[in-house]
Amino acid sequence: MKFGTKAIHAGLEPDPTTGAIMTPIYQTSTYVQESPGKNKGYGYARGKNPTRVALEHNIAALEDGKHAICFSSGMGATDAVIKLLLPGDEVITGDDLYGGSYRMFTKIFANYGIKFHFINMSDAANIEKHVNEKTKLIWIETPTNPTMQIVDIEACAKIAKKHNLLLAVDNTFASPYLQNPLALGADIVMHSVTKYLGGHSDVVMGALVMNDDKLQERLYFILNSCGANPGPMDCFLVLRGIKTLHIRMERHCFNGRKIAEFLKTHPRIEKIYWPGFEDHPNHAIAKKQMKDFGGMISIVLKNASLDDTFKLASSFKVFSLAESLGGVESLINHPSTMTHASIPKEERERVGVVDNLLRLSVGIEDVEDLIDDLKQALG
Ligand SMILES: Cc1ncc(COP(=O)(O)O)c(C=O)c1O
Repeated sequence: MKFGTKAIHAGLEPDPTTGAIMTPIYQTSTYVQESPGKNKGYGYARGKNPTRVALEHNIAALEDGKHAICFSSGMGATDAVIKLLLPGDEVITGDDLYGGSYRMFTKIFANYGIKFHFINMSDAANIEKHVNEKTKLIWIETPTNPTMQIVDIEACAKIAKKHNLLLAVDNTFASPYLQNPLALGADIVMHSVTKYLGGHSDVVMGALVMNDDKLQERLYFILNSCGANPGPMDCFLVLRGIKTLHIRMERHCFNGRKIAEFLKTHPRIEKIYWPGFEDHPNHAIAKKQMKDFGGMISIVLKNASLDDTFKLASSFKVFSLAESLGGVESLINHPSTMTHASIPKEERERVGVVDNLLRLSVGIEDVEDLIDDLKQALG
């Protein structure tokens, strides 16, 4: 089955009692049992809910994976992966990472004795230098947030296999439409479902996708034990959002390209980060592992102070100044004070997250209106 057909149909059956074509919202916390332990496969809703099960089957199909597990947020999903580890274990991860992941790794799990190495991953060979006998996990994000570095998933998978490590990929920026890490050798795919999968800025949710049965069991055990499960109403909204994922992504990519091309030569732009440019350092890898280049673009303003950058960020009429990304509406974000504020200044500036950098999540509006908005704001 091709992607669009899977987005609309995978994992979804008409409701057996009424024939309802849309999966019902099973708004229940528990299920009546015939006798103790004898039930219809559902005991308590933290563990399992039919609306969530339908969504999990659907998301697994989109990543060509065997299993998916949904969580109450992307951070809830990330938290579960790190809970596979024990004190003393080490993780190799990128130095350009979503600020919330960095905060969780350094401010929560470092206190439990897990060590994180934040390194430049744009050359995968650099990863191997940091592997030692304590390394258990490689955690990558590609494209990275917000400087759009591209990490070679296949090369990382080879290193992970060689050293018997788990490879987890945060696939939020690409979405399953553009990139499928399991097919490239990853063990776990993480999505902030809040973003492209949900697509309408009305839900916070996360998901993990994997092929290995044992890994699924361990991660599901963590979900059920720790309780970061999403509610059924949110699962319904995401099921509905996913039905148009392929159409939305095509438009995000189309608009993203037009806007990147417009901004590239704009006199107020010093630097632009978008993996679709042939002069992007890892364009060839992006081309190899992604279907298209997406709608996430970061720009550095020429000779702009923090004040100038704030003024510009507040002067849009169609783009909205807000955290998050991946919804139908275009957003603009100031990473150094918003999404990445928890990363120390020197560390974020080292990888280019400077005070005059802005990140655009290009939506699916008419691109002429978006370009007019950029023209008036930059003008
Ligand atoms: C790349 C990336 N990963 C993970 C997350 C966290 O997801 P959530 O906000 O759903 O917890 C985000 C949120 O912005 C993100 O951008």
